[in-house]
Amino acid sequence: MEYRRLGRSGLQLSVLSFGSWVTFHKQIDDSIADELMSIAYDRGINFFDNAETYALGESEKMMGRVLQKKGWDRTSYVLSSKAYFGWRGKGNKPNQTGLSRKHLVEACNEALSRLQTDYLDLYFCHRPDPTVPIEEVVWTMHNLIQQGKVLYWGTSQWSAAEIMEAHRVAQQYCLIAPTTEQPQYNMFERFKMEQDYIPVFQNVGLGTTIWSPLAAGFLTGKYNDGFPEGSRLGMKGFEWLRDRWIQEEKMSKLKKLDELSKELNVSMASLAIAWTIHNPNVTSTILGATRKEQLEENFKALDVLPLLTTEIMSRIDEILGNKPVMDLS
Ligand SMILES: NC(=O)c1ccc[n+]([C@@H]2O[C@H](COP(=O)([O-])OP(=O)(O)OC[C@H]3O[C@@H](n4cnc5c(N)ncnc54)[C@H](OP(=O)(O)O)[C@@H]3O)[C@@H](O)[C@H]2O)c1
Repeated sequence: MEYRRLGRSGLQLSVLSFGSWVTFHKQIDDSIADELMSIAYDRGINFFDNAETYALGESEKMMGRVLQKKGWDRTSYVLSSKAYFGWRGKGNKPNQTGLSRKHLVEACNEALSRLQTDYLDLYFCHRPDPTVPIEEVVWTMHNLIQQGKVLYWGTSQWSAAEIMEAHRVAQQYCLIAPTTEQPQYNMFERFKMEQDYIPVFQNVGLGTTIWSPLAAGFLTGKYNDGFPEGSRLGMKGFEWLRDRWIQEEKMSKLKKLDELSKELNVSMASLAIAWTIHNPNVTSTILGATRKEQLEENFKALDVLPLLTTEIMSRIDEILGNKPVMDLS
């Protein structure tokens, strides 16, 4: 396993990590979660990702139970949670969502209790909240760090301008600035990582723990001929996600990528994941899995990485036709 430093911080994350969105509680039970987290940990993964909203709090509870049972040294892994969406679903009242001091502090305390831990290594603002002054957000995250409840804080799906605004406030009041961002990044979703954040990487440094490297499973090619039983894009309630990925143009590009993967003698899944970690601005690519065979397959990305020569990367870019172009004029 390769470990990369999270931005300009001293924290090291495994380049592959493991998350629980959709899977924990909705698709898998404690015993499968235990099996998958054990494989991940034994293979060198040291970062487990979670959020208050995943399965409305049940995902954190499940991960907390597994971690308790395993009894791994708490210093050997990095644990995260995120706040913004709340965990009561349609029952969320004012102050039970968003980035106010009240919600960020309460959500942090709730996450600690559900995960059965004394501190979160990473705590993310799951989305920007334009209704809350950025000073309130930065002061709150700084104070949570001072209280020892959080070690590093980050953002998720913020724009570069929003991240830089948080840095400006942190600098103004000598507070701790966000260390990391958690954006979506995969072959079909490149703008933030390859264009918007470039000045942030250069000017203040930024770690990234990227999500949906397989576009929710689409990039494995498993949806080329319909919807396999129980898989995410066929699940009730995930029609919005299916519509995002199952599109004719994407399908035809995926077929060409699949041919390239066959030529390289690797699976499409491992190629797509390797492609994300080829980007040096990716600190860690968060994997999701419902079965151990998936996780095993996805680990092969580490072997595929050295196959991604400049020539292969250009061929992938040619197929995708979506490489962001920096306008430096
Ligand atoms: N910050 C955010 O806003 C945000 C948003 C989303 C996710 N995340 C984080 O990122 C993590 C990863 O995201 P993701 O789950 O969307 O990642 P992903 O890798 O794009 O999708 C994972 C899903 O694809 C399928 N799959 C994985 N490997 C496969 C294989 N080798 N062959 C066939 N199918 C395979 C499985 O679903 P099926 O078995 O159901 O097909 C699996 O659950 C999440 O757990 C969460 O921690 C963060």
